[in-house]
Amino acid sequence: MDKVRVGLCGLGTVGAGTLNVLQRNRIEICARAGCDIEIVHIGTRSDKPDVDVTGIKVSRDIFDVARDPDVDIVLELIGGTTTALELVRTAISHGKHVVTANKALIAEHGNELLAEARAAGVSIAFEAAVAGGIPIIKALREGLSGNRIEWLAGIINGTGNFILTEMSEKGRDFADVLAEAQALGYAEADPTFDVEGIDAAHKLVILAAIAFGMPLQFDKVYIEGISTLESEDVDYAAELGYRIKHLGIARRSAGGVEMRVHPTLIPESRLLANVNGVKNAVLVEGDAVGPTLYYGAGAGAEPTASAVLADLVDLARDMACGQSPSVAVLGAAEGSDVPQVVPIEDVNCAWYLRLRAEDKPGVMSNVASILSDAGISIEALIQKQPPAGISHVPIIILTNQALGATVNAACAQLEALPSVVDAVARLRVESLDG
Ligand code: HSE
Repeated sequence: MDKVRVGLCGLGTVGAGTLNVLQRNRIEICARAGCDIEIVHIGTRSDKPDVDVTGIKVSRDIFDVARDPDVDIVLELIGGTTTALELVRTAISHGKHVVTANKALIAEHGNELLAEARAAGVSIAFEAAVAGGIPIIKALREGLSGNRIEWLAGIINGTGNFILTEMSEKGRDFADVLAEAQALGYAEADPTFDVEGIDAAHKLVILAAIAFGMPLQFDKVYIEGISTLESEDVDYAAELGYRIKHLGIARRSAGGVEMRVHPTLIPESRLLANVNGVKNAVLVEGDAVGPTLYYGAGAGAEPTASAVLADLVDLARDMACGQSPSVAVLGAAEGSDVPQVVPIEDVNCAWYLRLRAEDKPGVMSNVASILSDAGISIEALIQKQPPAGISHVPIIILTNQALGATVNAACAQLEALPSVVDAVARLRVESLDG
């Protein structure tokens, strides 16, 4: 095959970015693929696309692209999980390979779609679904394939990291920074996906499936967003030598594999603590290689286009030399057990607790007794002077490792103390030191 013909569905941020980068770098891209790559058909509802579509057939119905006999590979860049699901199924049933940037689609329907693609002898590639331009899927599937992966932890939502960075460094308002992230094309169509951790959970599920050989299990991820994070916790964390980042963590532990997305205190000296703005970074610990870190732009038109085009080049290269492109395999190897997902109450980690209590004798000793009776050891403690005219003092505690269930039970006891007002704020702490 000396030419691979591509159908592009969607001319939004990522679709337009992909077309622009392909047009700009076409000579290098085709040289790397070993064949010509041409966009022959675009599906878009836009009457006036903001990109040069000269000489390319354009249809309003994206399904015309998926059914087009002149198309070898369909780029699904429309997003969402309803029309996109139908589109990918149509492409597969018409014998087309698919490249998608759609993390929600892969996280929620990937098990079935990959099985359907395998049965049809076509491939679905989804590098752009996780961490924007960072080739993390390639790193896990290829570069680290000789390792047993112990854990991975990443900042995998660019919008959320942009918001946290701007709030903590410039004191900006949450809503104002979110509006800027939307204007810059970082945020999801529904930005609650970004700030409530759903987008990060979609990506984490994909990474965990590849790293640990398990099916995609989006419904088993524990998810906490950043919308309820208090700025005073960011400040107290800094005082204790930590930064708060919204992490996706997947870890092999005695009970199976943990999958969790939540705001996390990490020591300020860690590289991940210094990943700011829209940048993403994923730390992967393999048994042979040790810790490895992958860093780059996690969202935006051209970084995501970079990953889409990498998949396109991979598929085209195989097709050019007459090989059938390899189909991603998720799930356990035959004969090995599928790891269980560990319930969040059974996850062991260190904790940051903040409570507000009356400023009177005996309070601190009551707090310490409850924690000690629960077997929770205190690592650091700060008690602040109450502001003038206020009788409640904030008490901030860092604990050693304790199970989620133990900490929740102890916090319920703390909240029941007459001297404690409000709920106990609690955040997980990760040392990320392997
Ligand atoms: N909304 C996503 C993010 C886009 O901010 O990370 C990239 O997946």
